[in-house]
Amino acid sequence: MSFYNASDYLNAPPKPVIRDVTPFGPLIFKTHYNGWNWAKMEKVCEDFMNETEHKIHLETGDAGSTAPNYKKQPHIMPEFKDFYKFIEPIVSDILFSKLEAYTEHGYYVSNSWINYHGFGGQTETHHHGNAVLSIAAYINFPKDGGYIQFRDPLEYQKGFLLKNYDDEMFGWKTIEATTGDVILFPGWLRHRTQSNNNKNEKRWVLTTNYMSTYQPLKK
Ligand SMILES: [Fe+2]
Repeated sequence: MSFYNASDYLNAPPKPVIRDVTPFGPLIFKTHYNGWNWAKMEKVCEDFMNETEHKIHLETGDAGSTAPNYKKQPHIMPEFKDFYKFIEPIVSDILFSKLEAYTEHGYYVSNSWINYHGFGGQTETHHHGNAVLSIAAYINFPKDGGYIQFRDPLEYQKGFLLKNYDDEMFGWKTIEATTGDVILFPGWLRHRTQSNNNKNEKRWVLTTNYMSTYQPLKK
């Protein structure tokens, strides 16, 4: 019996071309929205937060979210209308082309909210339940503002790699972003945020969940 080890590989890497032919689609998408006018949106966000802020247990340090309120959520507020007009065709493309969602059911924005992270603030690991697509839009991303991190959905399978598998080093992947970036991902995918390390400026994020009606479309 012969053994193949890492030093054999490093001394003589294989010559044939190896292509990745994984037939499963991607999970996390990024686009960019140019429409935020922070000079205007800062007051909108601060006022909205002052009016409805509540802290959920996942938010630690200086952080908060606008409360669930069926009468006042960003997707039904005129201040955010242009963003939702921008994102709608992108959502359709991701759902039907990239995630191959069922085309005979309807999809709609179920809820949306704003959150902020001040210096040291972060959000711990969570998911968005049965949202077919969750969207994090960075209205303001300060320098050193802290990125979103996603949990590897194959964490248990990769546990077989034993000592090379370090939970913090390999189990979480970071997606860098800047103001205007929009990250879209299925709601079941676990994620968290790094802390905002900017002492002077808050990170502001608009989050939106899309859900399925799970009913045939009316035609
Ligand atoms: Fe989230």
